[in-house]
Amino acid sequence: MKEHQPDLPVGNFHSHPTPSDIELFQSMVLDFYHDYGRDLPWRHTVNPYHILVSEIMLQQTQVQRVLLKYESFIKAVPDFDALARLPFPRLLELWQGLGYNRRALALKEAAVRVVGDHGGVLPDNPDLLKGFKGIGPNTAASVCVFAYNKPLVFIETNIRRVFTHYFFSTGTAVDDRQLLPIIEKALYAFSPRDWYNALMDLGSLIPKHTENPNRRNPAYRTQSPFEGSLRQIRGEILRVLAKNPVFPDELGDKSPLLARTDRKNIKKAVSALESEGFVVKEDGSYRIRDDR
Ligand code: ADE
Repeated sequence: MKEHQPDLPVGNFHSHPTPSDIELFQSMVLDFYHDYGRDLPWRHTVNPYHILVSEIMLQQTQVQRVLLKYESFIKAVPDFDALARLPFPRLLELWQGLGYNRRALALKEAAVRVVGDHGGVLPDNPDLLKGFKGIGPNTAASVCVFAYNKPLVFIETNIRRVFTHYFFSTGTAVDDRQLLPIIEKALYAFSPRDWYNALMDLGSLIPKHTENPNRRNPAYRTQSPFEGSLRQIRGEILRVLAKNPVFPDELGDKSPLLARTDRKNIKKAVSALESEGFVVKEDGSYRIRDDR
């Protein structure tokens, strides 16, 4: 059965919107959200820890995939204290299926800093959060919006789609510098949290109706396919090492995927994991680092 999709709200604005254009746009977005907003677990909380976990998971990863992991992660690791103390191998185990493991490391480092330097309270200042490894300006702002309802301007893939689609409908190239002043003007300061949730939902619907407008952004990049990628091999090696240390020559025997992977690529993946600090070689065998 075809999943029911709401229609895309119809609106056509231009790149220099008047205040009344902005009001019209805000009503359109908020009406859409009222009628079709998604019920997502991280919208049932304003706990800054929960919000940080969800926003880091949602970087580069689709909502459907994050939904499979978010709640079990929060249950297993309920707060900054628990995360700061969590052994790295266990963290990687909980992160499995999300990929881009550097994010797991960044999340743990954030927890260590929150506990060590900020008395266990996540700062509500995006300039401070930007100084955390793995937290860029957009994630810093999104966390402050969703946790603290701060009226901040930020952009990510869904927001980019909304503003490109509605304010630059003529099909030309559009970059973030053109979008940001409009995002700023349009910010519904009465409730930034609801506003950005609404933009996320509308943005996720756009490619179901039209060609993805973000293709017109010069910075647009697609994720390379996961199947057969070095990313997949890296994930598999970590999964194997999470159980037991393994001698380099035996990695190929430890899973069907690694068995059909070129040795050269196994070596490349394991060296990358080593130089990035995920694994170490000790007494001739590889294991996940437990000192991170
Ligand atoms: N992508 C990034 N943050 C998100 C959020 N809070 N909800 C849905 N998608 C997102």
